[in-house]
Amino acid sequence: MSEYELRVAAGDDLAAIRGLLRGAGLPVPGADEAVRFVVAVRAGNVVAVAGWEVHDAHALLRSVTVRESERGGGVGARVVADALRAIEAEGVRQAYLVTMDAADFFGRFGFRTIAREDVALPIRSSREYQIHECVGGQWMERRR
Ligand SMILES: CC(C)(COP(=O)(O)OP(=O)(O)OC[C@H]1O[C@@H](n2cnc3c(N)ncnc32)[C@H](O)[C@@H]1OP(=O)(O)O)[C@@H](O)C(=O)NCCC(=O)NCCS
Repeated sequence: MSEYELRVAAGDDLAAIRGLLRGAGLPVPGADEAVRFVVAVRAGNVVAVAGWEVHDAHALLRSVTVRESERGGGVGARVVADALRAIEAEGVRQAYLVTMDAADFFGRFGFRTIAREDVALPIRSSREYQIHECVGGQWMERRR
């Protein structure tokens, strides 16, 4: 089995990223949302993605998805670690996310569960925050 290549996504990865997100039932970012992505690529196919957006020095980690057939092999942890490195490299020290059922997974990276009302104000303006106002989900915070 060939190794994964991890890299920052380019414009022509977007269709594959959207396909992965739809397949996992996660929100697909709109064209007006400034989301950046790390992707894992194997044999020319995007098999995992982790995205982030920055709002006034606070990051929102989102769109973390691994193709179903590739789960459990460590690639999810690798894209998350790379996205967090990219966030820190931008000098952003507080990151948030919302998850339906992967809180234990994200806990491995130093995310801690917080109340929805404790999410930093700039993040509350994101579409992700507003979507989850309706559907619920567990908010988490990581400080560095
Ligand atoms: C959650 C997800 C990204 C994990 O990716 P993955 O490649 O399967 O995870 P990894 O193989 O890197 O797992 C690393 C470790 O986390 C654990 N883990 C994986 N998913 C987990 C979950 N949902 N809850 C708790 N632990 C989890 C693994 O067992 C593994 O533990 P180990 O190191 O002791 O063996 C993947 O299952 C997925 O795409 N799920 C659907 C979409 C989703 O829920 N995204 C998160 C919300 S934004």
